[in-house]
Amino acid sequence: MKNKFSIVLSIALLFIVQVACQQDANQTASQSAQNITPTDSAASCAQATIMDPNQAKPMALMMRQMVINADSMKQRILRNETLDSLQFRFIKFYLVEPTDPNVLEPNFFEKSRLHQAAYMEMFKHPKEQVKYYNLMIASCVSCHKDYCSGPLKRINKLPIDL
Ligand code: HEC
Repeated sequence: MKNKFSIVLSIALLFIVQVACQQDANQTASQSAQNITPTDSAASCAQATIMDPNQAKPMALMMRQMVINADSMKQRILRNETLDSLQFRFIKFYLVEPTDPNVLEPNFFEKSRLHQAAYMEMFKHPKEQVKYYNLMIASCVSCHKDYCSGPLKRINKLPIDL
């Protein structure tokens, strides 16, 4: 009788220890996930997106639309169609919340300004769309080299080869 009791007790103990260990492991896992919050702002956006694709910040969502638009502009230019500024309105991404608030510094706003200028310039030169479209994409690249290098691979597919 005494033996049976100690067996039950030790099984129960084993179980409790196991649960406690699991909880500990879970805690460490979620803690290290939090620690992934990057210090390197160049990689921050891509990492955050991979971590939580459904919780993307407004700036990330706008950037996704910008790639779609750029690709659609590229297709139109390749078909010799004139780009319509009303169809491709400039998206004011620099006014909305980014994944990493540290990007909101003077250099970022300067690069935003240059990008917007290059974007508007594109519609003023219907006879040189390839050149001005490529300059616009170059201004995406210029900012991404400083703030968010993850998507560069994708952005570098956007220029039109002359
Ligand atoms: C002035 C700086 C700047 C310019 C110009 C810029 N980007 Fe971005 N881009 C960012 C930052 C910062 C992020 C990270 C946004 C976030 O995570 O909230 C980002 C994110 C992205 C992403 C990843 C979005 C995702 O899925 O999370 C893509 C793709 C992207 N940009 C493409 C472009 C393209 C294409 C252009 C030009 C048409 C462009 N970017 C112009 C700074 C810029």
